[in-house]
Amino acid sequence: MATVLKEPSRTFNEYLLIPGYSDMEARPENVSLRTPVVKFKKGEESELYMNIPLTSAVMQAVSDDNMAVALAKEGGISFIFGSQSVESQAAMVKRAKSYKAGFVPSDSNLKPDATLKDVLDLKAEKGHSTIAITEDGTADGKLLGIVTSKDYRVSRMDTSTPVTDFMTPFDKMVWGSEGITLSEANDLIWDNKVNQLPIIDKKQRLTSFVFRKDYDSHKENPNELLDENKRYIVGAGINTRDYEERVPALLEAGADILVIDSSEGYSEWQAVTIKWIRDHYGDKVKVGAGNVVDADGFRFLADCGADFVKIGIGGGSICITREQKGIGRGQASAVIDVAKARDEYFKETGVYIPICSDGGIVYDYHMTLALAMGADFIMLGRYFARFDESPSAKLMVNGNYVKEYWGEGSARARNWQRYDLGGDAKLKFEEGVDSYVPYAGSLHDNVQMSLGKVKSTMCNCGALNIPDFQKNAKLTLVSAVSIVEGGAHDVILKEVGPSTGQR
Ligand code: IMP
Repeated sequence: MATVLKEPSRTFNEYLLIPGYSDMEARPENVSLRTPVVKFKKGEESELYMNIPLTSAVMQAVSDDNMAVALAKEGGISFIFGSQSVESQAAMVKRAKSYKAGFVPSDSNLKPDATLKDVLDLKAEKGHSTIAITEDGTADGKLLGIVTSKDYRVSRMDTSTPVTDFMTPFDKMVWGSEGITLSEANDLIWDNKVNQLPIIDKKQRLTSFVFRKDYDSHKENPNELLDENKRYIVGAGINTRDYEERVPALLEAGADILVIDSSEGYSEWQAVTIKWIRDHYGDKVKVGAGNVVDADGFRFLADCGADFVKIGIGGGSICITREQKGIGRGQASAVIDVAKARDEYFKETGVYIPICSDGGIVYDYHMTLALAMGADFIMLGRYFARFDESPSAKLMVNGNYVKEYWGEGSARARNWQRYDLGGDAKLKFEEGVDSYVPYAGSLHDNVQMSLGKVKSTMCNCGALNIPDFQKNAKLTLVSAVSIVEGGAHDVILKEVGPSTGQR
């Protein structure tokens, strides 16, 4: 006979946290949200941490290069969506990896025989006013000079004037040598009152620029997540079908971490995919796997060698998997069960495999609950889709700004690899919907506010970091009747403000 679990499948809304003792040090500014992303042995450090426990979903409507940069600035990781060609996904990864974070590859370059017209055309095309003049016109050619808006006056000059007549030539330029630190580069910028500093190698070849304007942005984002070359950390989704082409291209483009994006991960497909990665790259390449919703699924992926395991089936806001197929599990029950399995696995093997709660976050406090229940980090789709930085269109619908948000299992995304079990292609059915979500402004402001709430609750529970919170949090189930007590009740509300109606 089939196994029937005794406990019902529960969701975040059914739980509350009970405060613990907090001393006077329990203040939000003392809370660290740093969290491991990939597995590590007892007594060792993980090779990759995030400074905030948030990742953005592997979805067309959520995670492109723009989102990856915005989230890495805050200290989290985006997994750039894989339901696109290998080339375009790799190009997104590459763009995110080459974005600022101090040293920027030069994207506007001309040869010395170019004219002012070429300068103006390139400026219009790229939108940047600093142009490197290199011997061969490439981003890493021998640097001969630079042109910025200060070097020419369109109203007074003929557009056929050669750049060599007005560029700042190399011998009059301030430059830094390859290997210089960001803070040394910034000192040169400030001491010499320049707006940009070209960085060159021993053969005078251009490697990158450091811009004065990035200095402030760096200061504003103390949590930003950078690799050893000061580039943003970027993740990417892969599937269990074309990994032999996709994985090498993503790695070549600079992806720091991969995740197998699948609606159901307790399968041989994932085992084969992870094995292929291990056979070709050993442990060097980091790959998460999922999604699973119980201890058996976790164990399986742990034994397959997953670097982290993602939890969640059917709880996503755009997801209709449970209706279509009758599989899944309430997200809270799934996280609690898998967290227990993760801890047992750690006790048994001395290997800690971080787990990610994916989908179903509606209120900010759901993030706090997911962490308390044992998640090391969280993946969100709907949450990030609402922000300026998401790739989808912002529209006005019935007088309100909204953004489009569609599931990877919807006909719009056509991400059949995520759901593919083989079989007749004509019999594919949708597991996701196409929808709108309320537009919510900038990622930075929202993430700061949400995590402010998370930190505040952690303080109430007397925890100053995520591991302590996971160990010591006390949770209670709520009764249907007590839910009414949780919102404003028995008063006549004057207005519903964003903080009471936030979804
Ligand atoms: P959300 O944060 O509640 O919007 O959930 C996002 C998560 O839903 C993603 O990270 C995926 O795991 C999952 N998901 C994305 N697209 C679909 C779909 O079309 N059907 C079912 N689940 C989906």
